[in-house]
Amino acid sequence: MKLGRYQLLDKLATGGMAEVYLARATGPMGFEKELVVKRILPHLAADGRFVEMFLAEARLAARLNHPHIVQIFDFGEADGTWYLAMEYIDGLNLRVLSKRAREAGMELPPASCARIIASVCEGLAYAHERTDPTTGEPLGIIHRDISPDNILLSREGAVKVVDFGIAKMAGQELRTQTGVVKGKLAYMPPERFREVEMDRRMDVYALGVVLYELLTGHKPYEAGSEGQLVRAILYEQPVPAVKWRPELPPALRRILERAMAKEREQRYADCRALQSDLEHFILSTGEPVGAWQLARLLARVTERPGDEKTVVESGVPGPVRQARAPTPKPMQRVPTPPPAAAIPVPRRTAEGPRPEPADAMTIRERAPQRSEAPTIRLEKPPQLQEPRPSASPREEKPTESAQRRSQVRKAGAGIMLLLALAACAFLWSEEPVQVEPLTAQVTSGR
Ligand SMILES: Nc1ncnc2c1ncn2[C@@H]1O[C@H](COP(=O)(O)OP(=O)(O)O)[C@@H](O)[C@H]1O
Ligand SMILES: [Mg+2]
Repeated sequence: MKLGRYQLLDKLATGGMAEVYLARATGPMGFEKELVVKRILPHLAADGRFVEMFLAEARLAARLNHPHIVQIFDFGEADGTWYLAMEYIDGLNLRVLSKRAREAGMELPPASCARIIASVCEGLAYAHERTDPTTGEPLGIIHRDISPDNILLSREGAVKVVDFGIAKMAGQELRTQTGVVKGKLAYMPPERFREVEMDRRMDVYALGVVLYELLTGHKPYEAGSEGQLVRAILYEQPVPAVKWRPELPPALRRILERAMAKEREQRYADCRALQSDLEHFILSTGEPVGAWQLARLLARVTERPGDEKTVVESGVPGPVRQARAPTPKPMQRVPTPPPAAAIPVPRRTAEGPRPEPADAMTIRERAPQRSEAPTIRLEKPPQLQEPRPSASPREEKPTESAQRRSQVRKAGAGIMLLLALAACAFLWSEEPVQVEPLTAQVTSGR
């Protein structure tokens, strides 16, 4: 299908107002360029209000030239409808990215989420600060429709803001002629439902909600209807992000709280302030997160089951194939050796080098040493068992075994005496003395 000088190849999306196509522009000498064509839905092309909004988008987007904002090439009319031609971002919008990650059972790495939102901040801050090139007056641009659908991540890891369809420049009406609030409710700050002038903090709030969703895979308010949602945005506290992701770093939690503050005076004053905190958080992780790491994240999220996995979490360039770490052996806890004083070993060993203190983190296996006591953990080191002077009268009484020992000693002395007498008798008599019966006699007489 052709639209003006563009060949429409594939429909990428259909919104309430327009269709988005992947298209090809051709030129002389085989020139070809893939791009995106967004055109007003044919049945709305006759509606002046839509055409005016579309023209406003085109005029505004044409003034923006930034690496984090999709580049507009062309604007025109063909076949009774208006169209915009822009660069093609080959990748995913953040809503699809988040959904795919959830389906794959993955949580997006916090530093990558922070990097994506920091990049959007850079693009939006540029738009917010844009001035009229002739007068130098601030244009007062606010995107007003920041949502995961309107932020794209390319295969090369580039982050781009799209859809300035309801963006406004200073002085324009906030509401459409019908009085309908445009944009997506879930990303609207409380002040959007009050009669107050919007400012750039509206985009800051929406970015806070997008960051919350990237990190948790959930929306900050649980509501069954639009009415309930508006009430929750106005009066209720969001579900804490840690409910979905308990290990969420405190710095990120604080960033979320500040970006999504209900009172805009408590919110980041602008996207630069939000970006600054996000950059500090990324730095604090100690890992670089740039386009290359985001490209790998996207590859991992979109790979089909069975594809080779890529290493993303480390954020450090490395081999594409995920190295499968060997399953670590459960750490063996070796009982702590008892204190040297408690080990009943010969003195020589006790005075040698003391055993290394066992540290909970550096416990390792070692061959049991002969001098070591059985592996029993002692709560309290016992005292050395040294002979002590008797203290109690009870201990002064000789025990039964002591009495037996003294009897044996006496019997031994008796035997020695008898042997001596026998030797004397042998010397004095000429007849040999039979020692054996004598000894037996002594022993039996004990
Ligand atoms: N330049 C682009 N490159 C690739 N995809 C795009 C581009 N612009 C828009 N899209 C896709 O089309 C969807 C709708 O585009 P958008 O401009 O937001 O239209 P709408 O005004 O209907 O919301 C986006 O969420 C994105 O997925
Ligand atoms: Mg959109």
